[in-house]
Amino acid sequence: MLEKFERYPLTFGPTPIEALPRLSERLGGEVEIYAKREDCNSGLAFGGNKIRKLEYIVPDAIASKADTLVTIGGVQSNHTRQVAAVAARLGMKCRLVQESWVPFPDAVYDRVGNILMSRVMGAEIELVDEGFDIGIRESWERALEDVKAKGGSPYAIPAGASMHKYGGLGFVGFAEEVREQEDKMGMRFDYVVVCTVTGSTHAGMIVGFAKDGRAHKVIGIDASATPGQTRAQVLEIAQNTASLVELGREVTADDVVLLEDYAHPAYGIPSDATSEAIRLCARMEGIMTDPVYEGKSMQGLIDLVRKGFFPAGSKVLYAHLGGVPAINGYSYIYRNG
Ligand SMILES: Cc1ncc(COP(=O)(O)O)c(C=O)c1O
Repeated sequence: MLEKFERYPLTFGPTPIEALPRLSERLGGEVEIYAKREDCNSGLAFGGNKIRKLEYIVPDAIASKADTLVTIGGVQSNHTRQVAAVAARLGMKCRLVQESWVPFPDAVYDRVGNILMSRVMGAEIELVDEGFDIGIRESWERALEDVKAKGGSPYAIPAGASMHKYGGLGFVGFAEEVREQEDKMGMRFDYVVVCTVTGSTHAGMIVGFAKDGRAHKVIGIDASATPGQTRAQVLEIAQNTASLVELGREVTADDVVLLEDYAHPAYGIPSDATSEAIRLCARMEGIMTDPVYEGKSMQGLIDLVRKGFFPAGSKVLYAHLGGVPAINGYSYIYRNG
């Protein structure tokens, strides 16, 4: 589906799929859980889901003759860290706007994890005291103007690399990759579980899996706590991406499955159930998830298995999208494990 698009390789190649037998057994043994390890996809500053998206955005950035990648996220944004790494790899400058999306009181929240790495990689960081919003932000538009005013040539990457014309392509590629891996494994996954916030990961998967009739088997777990906006953004990106790749059918609201029960109490704040899910996955499989994103989709996966949402015998693929560096900002919650 992606043959006509240019791709700049930033990942190691196809990401591994591994079975999680101890977690599956612990949850009753009726559902087989697997993980696709996007968290191990690249050597660029711990990798993650934005690297796969950026592979289809970077050719446009290079063609534009830009010298500075400009993007936005929260203080512990994984996305901004990955853009900083890609800028370093390309020999470009990087300008990051980091807003107070999470009112979290850990004393070193703005010193450790993702933001620490972005600073070390040479990004210019502006901390802005604005709350959570996945839409287009004034602070980001101001940063773009500022780069221009100083004689630079900015390339605009919106939050999560989502509302970008090529933002959905990377995860269309994810679906194609899963199909090839399924052929080799001699099996088919019945469901894919994915964490959703700015939307292009989920949207790309919807388009990619629509090709073999599985769009509605992609179960989005909302971690934004603003699910109306996230759902609308997923649909818009999926529709744009579908026409870009000439899917051959309309994507409609029915294709977007977004479960809202796991994002509470707020974006970036783990509930006790989120932390229990992080611990269970870590202790059963030695796989770390984070309190902002993947811990919430892991919580959703665990709850759905326990509730019998997946029929017995189902094979469920958990998309592990990265994000673990942020857990350093939550040291007090996990001080005793
Ligand atoms: C680790 C992790 N998981 C999930 C997501 C959600 O992906 P998206 O913003 O494409 O919905 C993000 C980024 O927002 C992330 O960094």
